[in-house]
Amino acid sequence: MKIFVYNYRDDEAEFFEKYSNEYGVEIGFTKEYPSTGNAELAKGYEGLSIIVSDMNAGILQQFHDLGIKYITSRSVGFEHFDLAKAKELGLKISTVAYSPNSVANYAIMLMLMSCRKVKNIMDRHSVQDFSLAGKRGIELSECTVGIIGTGKIGKTLIQHLSGFGCKMLAYDIYPNEEVKNYAEYVDLETLLRTVDIVTLHAPSTPENYHLLNDETLNKMKNGVIIINTARGGLIDTQALIRNIESGKVGAAALDVLENEFGLYYLNLTSQVLGNQDMAILKSFPNVILTPHTAFYTDQAVNDMVKHSIRGCCLFKEGQKNPFEVV
Ligand code: COI
Repeated sequence: MKIFVYNYRDDEAEFFEKYSNEYGVEIGFTKEYPSTGNAELAKGYEGLSIIVSDMNAGILQQFHDLGIKYITSRSVGFEHFDLAKAKELGLKISTVAYSPNSVANYAIMLMLMSCRKVKNIMDRHSVQDFSLAGKRGIELSECTVGIIGTGKIGKTLIQHLSGFGCKMLAYDIYPNEEVKNYAEYVDLETLLRTVDIVTLHAPSTPENYHLLNDETLNKMKNGVIIINTARGGLIDTQALIRNIESGKVGAAALDVLENEFGLYYLNLTSQVLGNQDMAILKSFPNVILTPHTAFYTDQAVNDMVKHSIRGCCLFKEGQKNPFEVV
C-alpha cells in the first residue's frame, strides 16, 4: 500500500518512519498543501494523508482521477471536505483520534492565563512595569465554567477541571453519562446567562456557525471570559471585538480564528498581514491569541500519524475504520 502525505512536517518524520514500517506501507511526501497544481505528486498512490486544507469538489475529483481511493485527515475536524462529492466519487474519508489531553490541558491553561491576566502581566514585565495596578485576577476555583460540546475533548476538560473545584455547566445535543458525574447539563440559554467562563469544544457545522454573536454575547454576564480552542467560525469575530471594546467580554483566549487559513503554521515574520481582526485582537491587553497549537504535543502528533496510516490500511483491508466520515 502506498500513501502520499501532504503538509509533511519534520517533527512528524520519526512517527511516519515508525508507523510506515509497522503497517508495511510506502510513504511519499511533500511539505506543501494539496492543490490542483501539485495533485500529480500523488499519482501512483492509493491513499492520501492530509491536514486541515480545502478539499473541495474539484481537488477531490482530481485525486480520484489520479487513482486515490482513501483520504485520512490528521485532524479531528472534517469540515474542510466536500463530503457529498467524496461520496459521489466513492472516496473513503476518515479523520483521526489523538490524545484529548492535548487540547483539554491547553484550554485550562488559557482559562488560568485569562483569569490571572497573564498576558498583561508578561507584557508589562518586559518593559519593567512591576507595579500591581490592573493585574489583580480572579480565582478559577470560584468561577462557574460553561462547556459547550462534551465530546472527547470537552469530557476530558471537564474531568480535569473538576480538580479545581469550580462549578460546571455543560451543553451538548448528545449528553454524555460520564460528564454528569462532574457537570450539570443545561440548555444553551441557561449556560450563556449563568457562566463566568465559556469554553468551546463543538465542531464547526452550519448550525454552529457564529454561535457566539452580538445576540448571544449580550445574554452573558458582564466580564465573561471566552475560550476558543475549537474552530474560529464558532465566534462572530467582529461581534467579539465590539463586545470586548464595550467591556461586556472581560477577556478572550483564542487558539483559533476565522480566516486563519493561509496564516497559521507559516513563518510570516516581517510580512504585512491582511487580517485586520487579528491585528485588533492582538492589540487588546485582555486577549490571548495562539496559532492553532492547542493540539500540538508529542503524544498527539504520534497519534495523528499512526491513525492516519492505520486508517488508510483499514480502508484497504475492508475493515471498519472507527474514524470513517464517508
Ligand atoms: C483538529 O484536529 O481538528 C485540529 O484542529 C488540529 C489540526 C489543525 C492539526
